[in-house]
Amino acid sequence: MANSEYEYVKREFEFDRCLPPSNWIVVRIDGCHFHRFSKIHAFEKPNDENALRLMNACATAVLEKFPDIVFAYGVSDEYSFIFREETEFYHRRESKILSLCVSYFTSVYVMKWKYLFPNKELKEPPYFDARAVCYPNLKTIRDYLAWRQVDCHINNQYNTCFWMLVKSGKSEQEAQLALKGTFAKDKNELLAQQFQINYDDEPAMFRKGCSVYREKVETTVKIDDYGEPIKRPRLQVTVAHVDIIGPEFWENHQHILREGKILHWFVKKSGINHIFCPCNWIVVRINACQFDQLSTIHSFDKPNDETALRLMNESASLMMEQYPDIVFAYGFSNEYSFVFHEKSELYQRQESLILSSCSSYFTSLYMMKWQEFFPQKELMQTPRFEAEALCHPKLKIVCEYLSWRQAECHAGNQYNTCFWMLVKSGKSEKEAHEILKGTLSKDKNELLFQQFQMNYNNEPAMFRKGSCIYRQKVEELAGAEDCDNDTTRERWHVKVDHLDLGPGFWRKHPWIMANCTQ
Ligand code: GTP
Ligand code: MG
Repeated sequence: MANSEYEYVKREFEFDRCLPPSNWIVVRIDGCHFHRFSKIHAFEKPNDENALRLMNACATAVLEKFPDIVFAYGVSDEYSFIFREETEFYHRRESKILSLCVSYFTSVYVMKWKYLFPNKELKEPPYFDARAVCYPNLKTIRDYLAWRQVDCHINNQYNTCFWMLVKSGKSEQEAQLALKGTFAKDKNELLAQQFQINYDDEPAMFRKGCSVYREKVETTVKIDDYGEPIKRPRLQVTVAHVDIIGPEFWENHQHILREGKILHWFVKKSGINHIFCPCNWIVVRINACQFDQLSTIHSFDKPNDETALRLMNESASLMMEQYPDIVFAYGFSNEYSFVFHEKSELYQRQESLILSSCSSYFTSLYMMKWQEFFPQKELMQTPRFEAEALCHPKLKIVCEYLSWRQAECHAGNQYNTCFWMLVKSGKSEKEAHEILKGTLSKDKNELLFQQFQMNYNNEPAMFRKGSCIYRQKVEELAGAEDCDNDTTRERWHVKVDHLDLGPGFWRKHPWIMANCTQ
């Protein structure tokens, strides 16, 4: 689309970090602040069966959606997803893989909450972070899974003892002391002697965690003329609570971790656990996937649905409340860019955790706010947002990046406005495309004016300029108790605006990038 002067910011600063070939890719997601989340939603301790079932439902949906994931293992607030060794999912681009998995998982979590907790309101947006780790062979991937299952066992045994002691009247500190330095067999004895509990009789879901994979099942496809069922084998996503440390499970399910062909191609850019250089500006750009589908299903207005844009803006504003290091956000259509202050120490500047938690939190907010914006429209599809994290060494480049996005917004909106006016006036979509092919900005303005008596510049600023969000100081009257002295108090307020992001804007709002809100 627009070949603006600003486009170099993409060419020169945006890189796709690809995960190295011929490695199993593990994406491990982990609930952010789930200690707090489980408390405010009164999860049972130490294990809440419904909370675990909800996690399993999300993992099952992820496997059904992404066929390249061959196995998943979950415990507590974490889930590991294993991509087959030779996957070419999004060309192994790390940011795409992480953000799509975590965003889709979050989406299903919010969507299915009401089925698992029909009597509990979702009080806060749940969100997850994600990292990707590569394992070069079957042994290391099996050892990775064994490590997670051993962890599950150790934590669950400890937590079972701990909460039994607390429920029997001990303080949390006393329970901790009683368990200090104990071995697995001491804990089993404690449970047996003090509480007549045989640890091995505890539910397998708690002891072994949850494995999700495709199992061969026979399903009846039809009944033949003699009344006999005709069966076909099919792979069905299954959840099991089994030992995955020993060889037995893997011997019986050899199709899951099959080693692929060894591929020898040049690894252009690879790397994991990437840390952003200090004092560089981090920009996270999120983008709704298959937005066409989502907007068609929910009958969004074309080319712009004002309510849908306001929902994006609201979610982005709330992001800024949650992440104080975000100093500026700019969005249009189905995308939003968040600028983190150059000194941000969020997640020690680890790229994967920053981009995954942003995409997950945005997804959660979008879904939880949906009903407020669309009271008459039920959310019929799980939205998901991919995210990329970019790094710009100079403030000037960040500003040019934002100008580039705004140039894209302008070009896209002008084209779409013309396109839909032509279609609404009776042209076919193909004819409309033909008419607009090769036209310049001023030709489109003329077309709108001459054919539809429309002045493009009078179109709503939100459509033409996109939306920017920043903090602005407001003065307000102090609370009632201070009213006598008639004082005012300063407060930072998150403001949504639709302005030109040229040098004039930055001159007028010098505090935004200077981060003087801190
Ligand atoms: P970060 O991941 O660093 O953001 O912190 P976190 O609070 O999520 O802690 P962490 O991931 O280390 O541990 C997960 C926490 O989730 C546990 O410590 C529990 O407090 C909570 N949790 C997970 N599953 C359950 C559950 O079934 N019942 C209860 N009551 N709490 C749970
Ligand atoms: Mg957690």
